[in-house]
Parts: sequence; structure tokens; C-alpha cells
Amino acid sequence: MNQFTWYGHATLGLETDGHKILIDPFFTGNPAASTRAEAVNADFILISHGHGDHVGDTLEIVKRTGASVISNAEIASWVREQGVEKAHPQHLGGGFQHPFGYLKLTLALHGSALPDGSYGGNPAGFLLTTNDGKKIYMAQDTGLFGDMKLIGDEGIDLAVIPIGDNFTMGPEDALRAVKFLRPKVVIPIHYNTWDLIAQNPVSWAEKAQAETQAKVVVLKAGESFEF
Ligand code: NI
Ligand code: MN
Repeated sequence: MNQFTWYGHATLGLETDGHKILIDPFFTGNPAASTRAEAVNADFILISHGHGDHVGDTLEIVKRTGASVISNAEIASWVREQGVEKAHPQHLGGGFQHPFGYLKLTLALHGSALPDGSYGGNPAGFLLTTNDGKKIYMAQDTGLFGDMKLIGDEGIDLAVIPIGDNFTMGPEDALRAVKFLRPKVVIPIHYNTWDLIAQNPVSWAEKAQAETQAKVVVLKAGESFEF
């Protein structure tokens, strides 16, 4: 059993095979966050890119929990410089068998500068194959790209994709992404945090379910989906 939680914005939680994973843990200053950074636990923290709404509370959570950070090589070096002891560098196209599953970093069309202006390498998405064989694609911040078809070829059980527009794919491109990815289930994220990315996820879900084979699950911040 795998449990996916949406904490609001692009902040995700995943419990799989006894491991707690946080993805882009942005709680402090996140108007959509369902909880506080002090209230979450993690064994691993995945950072997709350097922007403040994705690095978020990583350093504080690591200090309290001793979690390992997994990110691109540039961000892994940066968190080490900030005092994180366990940081695993990967890079786009590269996969590694972690205790919680096989994690591959995927292409993302976006930026990645870190909050202090440091170079954050290339932004990434995550493709995780859990130990029980489920494939989860977490696109995080990205525009639409045609190679989502290649990711879809892997057979996606759960796709987590942005629909907010302005900084990432909007509803129309996110619908095209679902057609490329062909997931069993899709969960929309990165919307309604601020007015700039206001969207109606329910009408998007109706459209996506009418035009694709995917089941769309719209979570409220703090809600979970088990699969
Ligand atoms: Ni970003
Ligand atoms: Mn973002």
C-alpha cells in the first residue's frame, strides 16, 4: 500500500514500504499549506528545483529529523554547504535504487536558481518505481514537453502534474500532458496558492475525465490518496 498526500501547492508526501518521503516541502509562507513544517516527519526529502516554493523548509526539517536529501548534483552540493549531512546527488535521466524504490530524475522545462542566488542546476521531475512496482510520476514545475510521451511509455499508475498556469503548465497544456502520459490516475497540483495561479480543479477534472482514460483525483490540501 502506498499513501500519497498533497499538503498544498507542490508540497507532497509519500509513504511507501515503511519510508516517509517529502517532496518540495514548502510549509512556512505557503498560504495553501495544510500543516506546519514542525508537524511533518521525513526519512527522505526530494527537491525538484531551487525555487523557494520548492526548497521551502528543507533545511529546518533535516535539522529536526535527520532526513536524507535527494536532488540534482548542484542542489545536493548546496544543501551540504548549508549543513545537511546526507545528500544524494542524481541528475536528469539517472535513476538509483533507494530503500523506498527506484527513483529517476526526469526533464522539466523551468528554472532552478536557489533562494540565495546560487546556481541550482537544471530543474527536474521525479519518476519513482515503488518496491511493490507502482510507477509514480511527479512532474513538479514544468511546461508541457513532448517527451512526456516517453515517460507515459513506462506505464504510469499515478501522475501528479501542475495545472496553475503562469509559472507552469496551465489547464489546456495539462490536459495534453494527460494524453501524453496516459496515467491510471492523475492528481493536479501547483494551483490556487496565489491569485496568479487560480484555477478550478473540478472543471479541469471533468474535462480530463471526459477526454482521456485517466481517473482524476482532486484532493484538498492535507488529504491523501491510497493506491
Ligand atoms: Ni519553480
Ligand atoms: Mn513552483
